[in-house]
Amino acid sequence: MEEKKQKQHFLNIWLVLYMVAAAVFPLKQCHGISEFNYREALSKSLLYMEAQRSGRLPYHQRVTWRHHSGLTDGLEQGVDLVGGYYDAGDNVKFGLPMAFTITMLSWGVIQYGQEISDAGEYDHALEAIKWGTDYFIKAHTHPNVLWAQVGDGDTDHYCWQRPEDMTTSRHAYKVDERNPGSDVAGETAAAMAAASIVFRRLNPHYSHLLLHHAKQLFEFGDKYRGKYDSSIEIVKGYYPSVSGYMDELLWGALWLYKATDNHHYLNYVLENAHDFGGITWAITEFSWDVKYAGLQIIVSMLMEEKHKEHKHILDQYRSKGEYYLCACLNKNNKTNVDRTPAGLLYVRQWNNMQYVSTAAFLLSVYGDYLDSTNRTLRCDRGTVAPREIHAFAKSQVDYILGSNPMATSYLVGYGTKFPQRVHHRGASIVSYKESKGFIGCTQGYDNWYQRLDPNPNVVVGALVGGPDNKDQFNDQRSNFMQTEACTYNSVTLVGVFAKLHRLNNNDSMIHRITLIASS
Ligand SMILES: *[C@@H]1O[C@H](CO)[C@@H](O)[C@H](O)[C@H]1NC(C)=O
Ligand SMILES: *[C@@H]1O[C@H](CO)[C@@H](O)[C@H](O)[C@H]1NC(C)=O
Ligand SMILES: *[C@@H]1O[C@H](CO)[C@@H](O)[C@H](O)[C@H]1NC(C)=O
Repeated sequence: MEEKKQKQHFLNIWLVLYMVAAAVFPLKQCHGISEFNYREALSKSLLYMEAQRSGRLPYHQRVTWRHHSGLTDGLEQGVDLVGGYYDAGDNVKFGLPMAFTITMLSWGVIQYGQEISDAGEYDHALEAIKWGTDYFIKAHTHPNVLWAQVGDGDTDHYCWQRPEDMTTSRHAYKVDERNPGSDVAGETAAAMAAASIVFRRLNPHYSHLLLHHAKQLFEFGDKYRGKYDSSIEIVKGYYPSVSGYMDELLWGALWLYKATDNHHYLNYVLENAHDFGGITWAITEFSWDVKYAGLQIIVSMLMEEKHKEHKHILDQYRSKGEYYLCACLNKNNKTNVDRTPAGLLYVRQWNNMQYVSTAAFLLSVYGDYLDSTNRTLRCDRGTVAPREIHAFAKSQVDYILGSNPMATSYLVGYGTKFPQRVHHRGASIVSYKESKGFIGCTQGYDNWYQRLDPNPNVVVGALVGGPDNKDQFNDQRSNFMQTEACTYNSVTLVGVFAKLHRLNNNDSMIHRITLIASS
């Protein structure tokens, strides 16, 4: 008892010293400590998901410029498809990127749950996942039927309307036995399996339900093979399945293995490794379409002892996964990911930030894994220590938050300078809450889209497409390649922000104590 008290007393002294030091040595002047507030970035990224909500908004909705929308989604087909998320600046509910968004956010929570919780954002993260998975449950109306889209890009893009006013087609599209969609089924299975891990402890019943759907969806996707954009052709101009469905089937099976520990799913990943491209594709992007790198990284991290007998295949997965990371780090002899002059990873001009987000995430996750196993990453051009991997991931995040030639944050609503004319229907038109008068399809273009003024609503936490290959950014509403944001851009960084927040906290604590000691 006495001892405990003394310890407490000792801690109190440090705490007081720490607080004094915090006042005397403000963070910004501390050398080597980032000036960015990652906790704020994290909170805002999750807030963005509320701005993208479709359906009936709850009373505790924090993004108050939005209101109910899409309340008759599915009615035409006799299904309840109310809810879910709009993917970006339009009002279509696209199943494939929505599922990828939920998979990535769930992975972030699985990997960095403690850090997210320390930052006080755990409940918001789970709420954002559940808004998606609740919708997937509704959309999966039969073991072999998945409603994969509501609305369509063609009629939607013809109009510029708030979601609250939509007069565009809300036709719903499905995949089924005759019109297969193994990619969207596989990704939705992955999302629900990953989310089932997230909810396992706090909501076991819900977790079970998600797993049940995930298993059925995976079986459906595997048994009735085909690309969803052949069944739902109207999606081709927006979210075509360029990489096909084999990556999603492997990815779905892997997440089911993680959720169930059932070897049936692991065997699927091992047995199809070659034929499905899991160990043959070395790819330098990870996105809503192409899952190979994420798949390879997760397989690489499976505990070796337990899977010794599969070492041969696991090693091949690892070599491809590490190839991706080495490409991001510019350490391959042949293929590397381009960078802008200021050092931002650059894959392509349209929504480049999505690739930066996924790279920062995979680098963080794998860097942590190497750290925990006391290893380095071996690339053609030498070995890379985990701390270098983390430093590079951080450099990408810091670029996003303002450390760039335009001195702008590409995360909307963060910092003092950020994009003002985000290509986003709801944000660019007066809030429905302020002005309920109906705004028609082309009226929105004439009166709001064309305006040069900043958007009336700040879509806080949206990560826009970002600058071109010369670090230049043109903040115009019509410049959708750069000023449109997508749900999967922001949520992929949630875990990374949380991790950086904790590091910052620890570093500043240690740094301040060092300052006290040396002063
Ligand atoms: C980590 O690796 C280094 C160099 O390979 C070795 O010296 C060290 O003992 C290892 N540490 C642990 C905890 O295994
Ligand atoms: C990569 O290039 C360097 C320098 O040309 C060479 O020494 C090295 O062997 C190459 N590594 C591989 C794996 O090709
Ligand atoms: C930060 O500090 C916490 C609490 O002291 C500790 O548990 C954690 O491991 C530290 N994290 C890092 C990355 O140093």
